[in-house]
Amino acid sequence: MNLQEYKEAVEKLNEYAYHYYVLDDAITTDEVYDKLYHEVLEYEKQNPQDTLKNSPTQRVGDKVSEKFYKAKHLSRMWSLEDIFNADDLREWLKKTYKLDEHISFYCEPKYDGASLNLIYDNGELIQAITRGDGSEGEDITVNVKTIRSVPLSIEHKDKIEIRGEVVIFKDEFEKINQERLKNGEALFANPRNAAAGSLRQLDSSITASRNLVFLPYGIGINSLEHKLLSDKMKYIYELGFKKPPQSALCNGFDEIESIYEVMKKDRDSYQMMLDGMVIKVNEISSQIDMGYTVKNPRWAVAYKFPAVEKITTIKEIKLQVGRSGAVTPVAVVEPTDIEGVVVERATLHNFDEIERKDIRLGDKVIILRSGDVIPKIVKVLTNERDGSEVVFEKPKDCPVCGSELLQEDVLIKCQNLSCEARVVNSIIYFASKPCLNIDGLGKKIVELLFTSGLVKSVVDLFDLTLEKLLTLEGFKEKKSQNLLDALQNAKGKEYYRFINSLGIEHIGEVASKTLADEFGFAWIDATKEQIAQCDGIGEEMAESVVEFVRVNRETILKLQEILQPLEPIKKDEAKDNKFKGKTVVLTGTMSKSRGEIKEMLENLGAKVSSSVSKKTDFLIYGEDAGSKYDKAMNLGVECLAEDLLDIN
Ligand code: IVH
Repeated sequence: MNLQEYKEAVEKLNEYAYHYYVLDDAITTDEVYDKLYHEVLEYEKQNPQDTLKNSPTQRVGDKVSEKFYKAKHLSRMWSLEDIFNADDLREWLKKTYKLDEHISFYCEPKYDGASLNLIYDNGELIQAITRGDGSEGEDITVNVKTIRSVPLSIEHKDKIEIRGEVVIFKDEFEKINQERLKNGEALFANPRNAAAGSLRQLDSSITASRNLVFLPYGIGINSLEHKLLSDKMKYIYELGFKKPPQSALCNGFDEIESIYEVMKKDRDSYQMMLDGMVIKVNEISSQIDMGYTVKNPRWAVAYKFPAVEKITTIKEIKLQVGRSGAVTPVAVVEPTDIEGVVVERATLHNFDEIERKDIRLGDKVIILRSGDVIPKIVKVLTNERDGSEVVFEKPKDCPVCGSELLQEDVLIKCQNLSCEARVVNSIIYFASKPCLNIDGLGKKIVELLFTSGLVKSVVDLFDLTLEKLLTLEGFKEKKSQNLLDALQNAKGKEYYRFINSLGIEHIGEVASKTLADEFGFAWIDATKEQIAQCDGIGEEMAESVVEFVRVNRETILKLQEILQPLEPIKKDEAKDNKFKGKTVVLTGTMSKSRGEIKEMLENLGAKVSSSVSKKTDFLIYGEDAGSKYDKAMNLGVECLAEDLLDIN
């Protein structure tokens, strides 16, 4: 690589990263990116004097600082006045129109994270400062450089401050907490705390690992001449910053109210947490005329969403025993309405969490509900205690079968393989959608089958007969026959479903697919080393597979004989055809489900990938194909209409 090629490679990597992190629309694969990245890294090692400031290698945080230094914002960072309902909005509008009646409004989400000021000069990021008291914050530039949606350089030469919120997406937050749970570390209460905590790490490689996202919402000092805020923001997005998932220009009460309702309704479906909508006067000259109160601009207001955090009381701590025997505590709380959903339970994760947060029976706590996940306890209000609260004792015996519990890492587990809870939950899992998808095996029925003595393990399900079922309460001929039919239907399914249904620890649907595709029926004879070599399977998972097979070989073979699953066609065994060994991307609405088409292609030996790149061999499109189709055409990828295709 020469200097010119190095410069082009940096530009290309930045382009790839911009599409991935800012536009959410990858234009290459990880493999291509990584290869080029390593070439760039190698060049910089040989020629350190040539290293460009905006090279992606400059984002790798590894410096450990002793503390953060104070730094001044170039212009003040303001707060916002809050309003909570339509009456407040009417009043705010009246007040604002009095200052200037020729105004319109720019509405965008209010992100729930940590605010940040980015200072760029001569096109380069020179400083990143936390909000602090609004005039002075902490210089966290080294950490912020690791955030991929913060451009290190921009096509704007004058000095400019770009303000925004640093957030952690909800799925990433869940992932971080799952990992912390596994490692016995304290959990983050909510995505906002996780974002703020991650920004203030003294070791920036920790910040780098948290996948933070920067969402711009405004500008400090600048020399831009746009007359409208919406145009300024458009310019900012064009410089390479992330756009909001929703924004609108509004003229007056009705339009503002209606976009507020849309954002409120959709808030669960956004990747980030929102706590409201911000309404800003769009005309810059009017903003200047209106000015500021002591704390807030007069030209903007935060229209808050109903809180997703509420105070309630812990009534009881229930213990649940899962299919692996792990006992998990769940808090039963005083029923509380959080945005139309009555919350009665909150997750406590594990016993260490109860101890760490010092959660007691009778405690007042703040709970958070977001999306579909079980509400969490954000904080214990220890100041509200009156002495009647009771410390919770860790159980010593299984709450279901009474056998002794043993501590395994951070988990407490029931060791009894025949424990009702373990068997019942294993059967429910066995029958669930991603496994064998057997209708009619819900909790109540499985419990009845177990307590009646008819079913003591998964294998017993297949010894059920009409006579046996008719002895059960509530089982008439039709219901019994339906269950027997559903059990028959579990036969002859895809092999990965069979592997998945066994409930091997750490092995979910994706890993089951990998095992099925790589080894076929021979997976039970694969060594730990062979398994660990598969894509996406680590040491711990491989160990778990081998150990499971060692203990359960007989049962696996017996079940396999009963269920007769289909052995997958190995990629290299597929008959010669157009798609064998090719990379295919699907887009648009198809005549069959995506899953079915994907499976057919995989059976033909194709690799189905989610994004179009130069490596894509074919794009198969259905109705309403969008940007992937355009991209494929631009790259000269062969595009095939799904309805004209014969891949059955
Ligand atoms: S505008 C001059 N817009 O909310 C206007 N702030 O309660 C100052 N925030 O400190 C802020 N999303 O950290 C604005 N779309 C948005 C926002 C937003 C989140 C945060 C920001 C600010 C706080 C004010």
